[in-house]
Amino acid sequence: MISEILIAPSILAADFARLGEEIAAIDAAGADWIHCDVMDGHFVPNISFGADVIKAIRPVTKKIFDVHLMIAPVDPYLEAFAKAGADVITVHAEAGPHLDRTLQAIRALGKKAGVSLCPATSEGAIEYVLDRVDLVLVMTVNPGFGGQSFLESQLDKIRRIRTMIGDRPIRLEVDGGITRDNAAAVAAAGADTLVAGSAVFRGKSSADYAGNIAAIRIAAEAGRVPQSQDNSAQPLRVGESARLR
Ligand code: DX5
Ligand code: ZN
Repeated sequence: MISEILIAPSILAADFARLGEEIAAIDAAGADWIHCDVMDGHFVPNISFGADVIKAIRPVTKKIFDVHLMIAPVDPYLEAFAKAGADVITVHAEAGPHLDRTLQAIRALGKKAGVSLCPATSEGAIEYVLDRVDLVLVMTVNPGFGGQSFLESQLDKIRRIRTMIGDRPIRLEVDGGITRDNAAAVAAAGADTLVAGSAVFRGKSSADYAGNIAAIRIAAEAGRVPQSQDNSAQPLRVGESARLR
């Protein structure tokens, strides 16, 4: 099944001193989703922000909050992020021993459930939870920092996960080192949702942001292998909140 390309700028690359303005700017510049990188300094060697920041920025935009939890343990914090305004809550398969239960808990909170894999983790780790998720997030860098280089090794994993997904209404998101130069390759491999931080926020003005987002989108769309349209079950779309489940 083919679904439209979505671009999800990561606010980790935004100017934190003007976070609300930056989010309004990428919203106006054509961002489909807002990717919020939550880091705890334990699961990843960096600390970013928590649920209170998500709550503070929620009124700034109506766009989907795509919350990427790079934290462990994760279960104790799910409700706080759900209440703060997350629409998609993505957890790492590596963050704890009971992934199936965690994904069920996200859906029980009325949110879309995502699972993310670090570069060294095989796609086999999600084989038995595909019916628990609305999104699979393939890390194309080692999580923890923006501005890193894209790991080519992940292209094969993206292709394999695209095959595993089959006709399920699941989005395949990629995250880390995504630019206009590799967007075609990740889209051709099967990604339909592209996170980009430094490639969107460079230039530091909304005019630059709009051009950066458009360039990534155009490159990704150009890279897609034409497939037959199948509208049987559409995955998450722009502006769609928790309505598909
Ligand atoms: C890394 C984060 C990514 C990162 C993307 O741990 O999950 O979302 O912020 O930033 P760039 O696009 O600059 O690699
Ligand atoms: Zn991320």
